[in-house]
Amino acid sequence: MNIKLISVLTGSLLSLSMIINCGGKLGNNPKSSKDFPGKSIYEANCSPCHGMKGEGDGPAGANLNPKPRNYAKDGFKYGSSIEEVKRTVVEGIDGTAMPPWSNVLSDEQIVQVAEYVKFLASQSVE
Ligand code: HEC
Repeated sequence: MNIKLISVLTGSLLSLSMIINCGGKLGNNPKSSKDFPGKSIYEANCSPCHGMKGEGDGPAGANLNPKPRNYAKDGFKYGSSIEEVKRTVVEGIDGTAMPPWSNVLSDEQIVQVAEYVKFLASQSVE
């Protein structure tokens, strides 16, 4: 192998590892609420009962029985996988104030809002 070829190879390896490192850093950044298209859907439709941060403290939720719970602290009674959260949102919960959303939101919006609920649930609470 001649010197020129070796230096070309080393050069491209170096730049490749720089690209990979860069990608790794981006991937490790914690997501912020602004990364979620479901945020505005949630704030318009869900926060009155569930609270802006999903803490179950929305003004319209205060006198409900059962009351909405704190997603992060109390977990999910009806399943915490994205599929289960989506189903809860689509169907609502019989006998509670939680309405079905399938006639209000599109399938895409329901996925987005379910992802935002999961994000809120993953946020640590003091
Ligand atoms: C009118 C008040 C109200 C609104 C508006 C509302 N919810 Fe609810 N929601 C509730 C109540 C009350 C419960 C708790 C029911 C229970 O404990 O059985 C609940 C439960 C849930 C659960 C199940 C939590 C669990 O324990 O498994 C999810 C998920 C949920 N809501 C998501 C949403 C989303 C997303 C929206 C907006 C698109 C929304 N809710 C809007 C009142 C509301």
